[in-house]
Amino acid sequence: MEDFIRATGLVKNYTLGSHVIEALRGVSLAVRKGEFLVLMGPSGSGKSTLLHIMGCLDHPTSGTLTIQGKDVIGLNDNSRAVLRNRDIGFVFQQFNLLPRTTALSNVELPLLYAGVGSGERKRRAREALDRVGLSHRISHYPSQLSGGEQQRVAIARALVNDPGIILADEPTGNLDTRSGMEILNELDELNAQGMTLVMVTHEREVADHGDRILEMRDGLVTANGSTSGDRRSGFVEEPPGRGDG
Ligand SMILES: Nc1ncnc2c1ncn2[C@@H]1O[C@H](COP(=O)(O)OP(=O)(O)O)[C@@H](O)[C@H]1O
Ligand SMILES: [Mg+2]
Repeated sequence: MEDFIRATGLVKNYTLGSHVIEALRGVSLAVRKGEFLVLMGPSGSGKSTLLHIMGCLDHPTSGTLTIQGKDVIGLNDNSRAVLRNRDIGFVFQQFNLLPRTTALSNVELPLLYAGVGSGERKRRAREALDRVGLSHRISHYPSQLSGGEQQRVAIARALVNDPGIILADEPTGNLDTRSGMEILNELDELNAQGMTLVMVTHEREVADHGDRILEMRDGLVTANGSTSGDRRSGFVEEPPGRGDG
């Protein structure tokens, strides 16, 4: 399979006063086109830092990074922002929707930044909301939506520019088990349609939705393994008595 993202020797240091935090200490990886890759590891292991760097939201201290074969480390901020807007969709744990803005307008935002005209924006935003099953909620504000619905709006926003990859940072972390499962099914379905996905989680059951898991610890990738994939849509069977809490 072709690589969508390749990174070698990524280092990220944060300096706080005289103290240096080594968030990434030399991470190399490839994300293959069409795969569902999971980054798993305990809190503080560098998962978000790595995801943000892969998505051009942050810049590494050193190392190389290519997206679809193109070097992104050498790009200036503006070119990187254009690439991010065009090729990458993000989904965050906290949804990150604008509160005083309808679902439709939230989804339109990336298109606004991309300079797409109003009519075309609305048409494509409606289409993206339809894709996540929210056609009946386009005029709702985030506060009028459940957590699961808000995350689906965020997925629609990530999809609206027709990106090549979606990066999701603990997308079920703020949801109850049932809504979380709906979001995972949504991601499984996108992947089945050919979308490349990278998802961060610290939960094994969530990680098992991926094709492949990279385990992180203390700023390093410590293991690389396949999943059985049997938690995918249609195969999920909770043992009786395993409560949601
Ligand atoms: N902006 C920042 N400034 C200083 N330290 C940071 C910053 N972001 C993350 N860190 C530190 O880098 C390490 C990795 O953080 P992070 O990538 O958020 O881990 P994870 O997502 O696995 O919980 C942690 O020690 C964290 O405290
Ligand atoms: Mg994190």
